[in-house]
This record gives sequence, structure tokens and C-alpha cells, in this order.
Amino acid sequence: MIWSRIVGTGSYLPPKVVTNDDLARQMDTSDEWIRTRTGIRQRHIAEPSQASSDLAVEASRAALAAARILPQEIDLIIVATSTPDYIFPSTACIMQAKLGIKGCAAFDIQAVCSGFVYALAIADKLIRSGQHRCALIVGAEVYSRILDWKDRGTAVLFGDGAGAVILRADSKPGIMASALHADGSYVDILSVPGNVCGGKIVGSPFLRMDGQAVFKFAVKVLDEVARETLAMCGLTPADVDWLIPHQANLRILEATARKLGIDPSKLIVTVDRHGNTSAASVPLALDVAIRDGRIKPGHKIMLQGVGGGFTWGASLVEM
Ligand code: UT7
Repeated sequence: MIWSRIVGTGSYLPPKVVTNDDLARQMDTSDEWIRTRTGIRQRHIAEPSQASSDLAVEASRAALAAARILPQEIDLIIVATSTPDYIFPSTACIMQAKLGIKGCAAFDIQAVCSGFVYALAIADKLIRSGQHRCALIVGAEVYSRILDWKDRGTAVLFGDGAGAVILRADSKPGIMASALHADGSYVDILSVPGNVCGGKIVGSPFLRMDGQAVFKFAVKVLDEVARETLAMCGLTPADVDWLIPHQANLRILEATARKLGIDPSKLIVTVDRHGNTSAASVPLALDVAIRDGRIKPGHKIMLQGVGGGFTWGASLVEM
């Protein structure tokens, strides 16, 4: 039987740091409000010259080095992003060229903050079918480009970054189970309701959100999808060594752990250092906790995404 295993991770945050105090100098907000409502202390902002593919390349190089494999060994690339370089071609194709890889399948996934979890589940299925053997899966975002910097209700929440994993065929699991969901009737609670038509922006190019509706929905579905994924393996929340939900907001992370009955010490939190980086947040947090030694071989990790669409999903991963 073919399984897929994570054999390397990497992440990248652009060097420019914007603290809560920096934001308080340009809009009516405060470090205290942002920290107590969200747990965020700072975010990283890409330079104008840096596109999602540039962040993705840096994270990918780190993941390739960690996995000790050459770019040429990759036979599948999936990039999860809501802030692609272009309308087309895909950020995955642009990144593929920047990495000097030719010929392998490459495409983007658009599932907003659930994008990485969607991409991981798809890559797992393609590897388990025998069609591919070594996948590069990346979440990369430049949300700073789609924020209305005059809207304090959203501008303080997001940041830029990228995270990557190498997923390889193996005789033992790896990705133990995954579940993916969406409910398009919630389109309006989190969206960038714009497009380009006839050379002009039609609608709005900025992120809009009903924060409280998102909060309630996120905690409900993160609890449900974790239990669903564990049930597929005959396991319970007590079997989870580390919980890595989408790094949206510390209060959402803590409420999810509480609902699942998982001790807060098993929660991986990086949202404080980079804000909500959408599809990049789960692989970023995973990479941090692997590199600092908390996640060890044999540990069971619950990765969870939730975001615009609404979309949500989870993967239970044995390292
Ligand atoms: O990937 C998913 C992405 N989305 C999320 O993770 C968002 C989930 N939602 C949340 O995290 C919370 O709803 C927020 C952090 C966005 C907001 O927290 P809240 O406790 O729901 O606050 P609120 O929207 O009810 O606003 C409370 C007050 C309002 O003032 P009034 O009407 O009570 O006078 C807001 O105008 O806080 C005000 N406010 C701010 N004050 C200072 C809103 N944003 C700010 C701000 N600084 N940045």
C-alpha cells in the first residue's frame, strides 16, 4: 500500500516587520486592543518587488533542503494562494520556473485560508494513487495587497508569508486521514468581492469580513472536522500530540482546543509573530514547531484550515 509522508518543511517571512504600535500611529487602534482581541503582536509585509511566488520560492528552498532532495525530484507542485502573482498563469507555474524545475504538474488551489489543507489532501490522494511520488505543497500569500489600510477592523489582522512541505510516497503513513468541506452560502461573511473587467476593477479589491460571524463559524467547524478526521482513524482528541489550526486569531485557536478537550499546551501558536497569513499559516506553524524540536518523529498532528467560501478541512498526520 502506498502512503504519503511529510519529509521536509520550510517557511519564509519577508524581513519588514510592522508592529501593533506602528499601526496605531497610522489608524485609530492600539497594541492593547489588537493583542487582547487577536493575540497578534506583529506582522511581516512583503516589499513591493516581492510577489507570492517569491515568498513561495524561499519557503520551498528551505523545505527541499530539510528533505535533502533536489528540485528535479519534485513531480507535483501545488500552491495554495488567494493572492496569486497573476490572474493566470498559476503561481505554481511561476514558482516552478523560479525553482528551475521543468515538466512536472503544477497548479494553484483557491480555498482561501483552508487552501493548504485542501492542497495537502489532494497531493496525498495523487501520491496514494501511484501517479506521483514527490510533491511540493506551498501556501503563499501577500494579503497586505488586498487590505483596506483605512479599515482598522481588518487591516490589523493579516500579514504576508509562505510555508512549504515536501510530501513523498512511503510504505507507512504519513497522512492518516483528511476531510474537506465547503458551504458557499457563506460567501459574503469573508470575501474580496472584486474582479478585473475591461481594464478596470469591478466591485471591491479589498477584503471584507463580518468578524463575529467568521469567529463563531470557525470554532464550530474546526471542532467538527477534527472529530470527523479522527473518527476515520478510530482515534479521539486524546490521541493528538499537537493541534495546528489555521493561525487566524489566538481566541479562535484556544476556543477550538477547549471544545476538543485538548490541553492548550498542545496548541502550536505562531499567529502572534505573523498575524493571519491565510493559506500560509498552517505550514508556517508546522515548520516552526518542527524546527524548534516540539514536533518529533511519531507524533500525531492535527492540521486544520478554515476560511472564505466558507471552506474548512483537516488532516491527521503522523510525522
Ligand atoms: O481566516 C479567518 C479570518 N478572520 C478572522 O479570524 C476573524 C474572526 N473574528 C475575530 O477575530 C473578531 O471578530 C475580531 C478580532 C475581528 C473583532 O473582535 P470583536 O470582539 O468581534 O470586536 P467587534 O467587531 O465586535 O468590535 C468591537 C469594537 C467596535 O467598537 P464599538 O462599536 O464597540 O465602539 C469596533 O469598532 O472594537 C472596535 N474595533 C477596533 N478598535 C480598535 C474594531 N477593530 C478595531 C481595532 N482597534 N483594530
